[in-house]
Amino acid sequence: MSPSAHADDSAARKIAALRDRIRHHEHLYYVLDAPSISDAEFDDLMRQLQRLEADHPSLITPDSPTQRVGGKPKEGFPKVAHSRPMLSLDNVTSEEELRDWDRRVRSLAGEKADIGYVCEYKMDGISMALQYRAASDGSAHLQRGLTRGDGTTGEDVTTNVRTIRSIPLSVSAAQLHTAHMPPDFEVRGEVVMPLAAFEKANAEREAQGLAPAANPRNYAAGTIRTLEPNIVAQRRLDFYAYFLLNQRGDDLLPEQAEALDALTTAGFRVNPHREAMPTIEKVLAFIERAGENRAGLGYEIDGVVIKVNSTEVQRRLGYTGRAPRWACAFKFTARAGITQVEDVKTQVGRTGKLTPVAVLTPVSIGGTTVSRATLHNADEIERLGLLIGDYVKVERGGDVIPKVVEVVHDKDHPRGHRHFKFPTHCPDCGSEIVRTEGEVDYRCVNVDCPARLTGSLLHFASRGVMNIDGLGEAVVAQLLERKLVRSIADLYSLTDEQLATLQHEVVTTDKKTGHQKTRTQALVGPKERNDLLAEIEASKKAPLNRVLYGLGIRFIGERTAQLLAEAFGSMEALMTASAEELERVNEVGPRVAQAIREFFSESRNRDLVHHLEKAGLTMTAEKRKKTSQLEGLTFVLTGTLPNLSREDAKAKIESAGGRVSGSVSKKTNYVVAGEDAGSKLDKAKELSIPILDETGLLEMLRQTS
Ligand code: IVH
Repeated sequence: MSPSAHADDSAARKIAALRDRIRHHEHLYYVLDAPSISDAEFDDLMRQLQRLEADHPSLITPDSPTQRVGGKPKEGFPKVAHSRPMLSLDNVTSEEELRDWDRRVRSLAGEKADIGYVCEYKMDGISMALQYRAASDGSAHLQRGLTRGDGTTGEDVTTNVRTIRSIPLSVSAAQLHTAHMPPDFEVRGEVVMPLAAFEKANAEREAQGLAPAANPRNYAAGTIRTLEPNIVAQRRLDFYAYFLLNQRGDDLLPEQAEALDALTTAGFRVNPHREAMPTIEKVLAFIERAGENRAGLGYEIDGVVIKVNSTEVQRRLGYTGRAPRWACAFKFTARAGITQVEDVKTQVGRTGKLTPVAVLTPVSIGGTTVSRATLHNADEIERLGLLIGDYVKVERGGDVIPKVVEVVHDKDHPRGHRHFKFPTHCPDCGSEIVRTEGEVDYRCVNVDCPARLTGSLLHFASRGVMNIDGLGEAVVAQLLERKLVRSIADLYSLTDEQLATLQHEVVTTDKKTGHQKTRTQALVGPKERNDLLAEIEASKKAPLNRVLYGLGIRFIGERTAQLLAEAFGSMEALMTASAEELERVNEVGPRVAQAIREFFSESRNRDLVHHLEKAGLTMTAEKRKKTSQLEGLTFVLTGTLPNLSREDAKAKIESAGGRVSGSVSKKTNYVVAGEDAGSKLDKAKELSIPILDETGLLEMLRQTS
């Protein structure tokens, strides 16, 4: 063996070992929600793999964890026939209907059939078929992802599906063996957007001045059909498997319950809320529990799916038109209620934004009493045509804040009478309210407004920002009332004695007489005070990007804060940066740049930063090196790119430290291919050199700039 073959051999082994480790941690994190290493450690493993693969491009395989985001689908999504039709389910909405269905199933299956059911949650997403095919090493590779489409043919959304991290790109021969699965199979399941991802995505939309998406299902459906795999990757979709079929679309195993277990063994995410149920009584109990669990799941479900467990019995029962006889969906009733609007109040947020809130006659919706619902903004009130006194339909989805969806006007629900007038002065501090031209929101511009300060403190202390546990609403309210805190920086000079003065009232009932007594008591006990002060102290170590995020500058979310901290390396540099310099940072446009400039042009805000610096908070960060990771990498350009000219692309690669060469060889790291790419592309494929399209190249440049 030549020395270079030896080197390749050892690199191949290192790469294989790294991929196994990364897949293991992806599974722990994205499928089991139980990570065992930090994000930074995970990123480090990924970088090691990327580096090795860049040095040995011939060793890159499509199932490598680095290959989730590839080129974008060219001309929309081609239509592909399903192995077996993807049908929908018949719905039942009451116990009675469910019992009827059970009786029908039993009588059709014949007296002797031993009917058992499997109950699963009906996740509110979009269904997806994933086809896996045998690879030469006995493993199975994800070959294709298809939407349901019209049920007979779906759309090929493979490039997007590959970015969903709970979907394995490959299943090893060993896993297939333990799960008793062949290497050619099909998995069907539901793509969902977790509520946390939905709320985050909506907050970002809002920051960009876009209308929020209506619900996680629509957003997931829209996302899976975007032509930008990068966007799909950022939106954190999830996939839950619920069918295991063979290549021809027939059931692989004799029982549905077994199939779900096999899928789990093979590394797929299967909803843990599933149970084999021998009787319809047990099924009803499962449905009841599902209803109780619903609010705390972190994703939306709209019912329970009941399936006959035996696939043999399923075959005998067959189908009616577009739905199977062997399954049904028990749909939860929509979580909405009708109630009267008693008043409309405005709430001041930490950015000074005023949100109108409907004060409602309390109504029970899905087990929770709702007495307030958001009206978003003045335009929304106009769109609804809402008058105070109107009856309205209020909806609650998952953890999302209840909202007014429409005004109800019929003979049982008379119209209200009073128009709501947006206040001209802040309800908390009395300062003037302004509405910037072209914006929907009204704002209180007084930076000292107590309502704003409450919001600012709560935001600063919250999870994911400065993580000061124990600084909740009650403590913040008292700190402000007692004037112990007048700005965020004052948190860092709080003492145990001061915290000990915070009090609240407790009502106690005398056991003997039954009389109620009110007495005041310390709000924070000695141990909690100690913990809180330790939390505040520990927060000084939070990195610059968190401090920046914590300041609550308009439009600066978690991600933008991170990009700014990396680009400028210090708070000082950021404070003095011009709008142009700010706009040079990725994802920072004129509006964001202006918001940053405005924030730091306030002397009060500059003082706050200086006080925080004096208190010992982190004000510097490691700057991203200009000499980028493209250094040492060779690119070959071929064909016509949609937007960039050949010269532009070359200039961009070179200014990022890369080299552009005219011909493809073993030394080429990447081939960037456009329309009508010719022999260079063939050569790249022959040598297994990774191929990028324009988007892929731009993304790579973005990550390294
Ligand atoms: S079984 C023919 N199981 O609900 C069998 N569907 O109305 C149909 N869904 O299109 C699918 N969770 O998108 C099944 N555990 C589950 C499900 C589920 C959600 C969706 C799926 C389907 C729709 C049926």
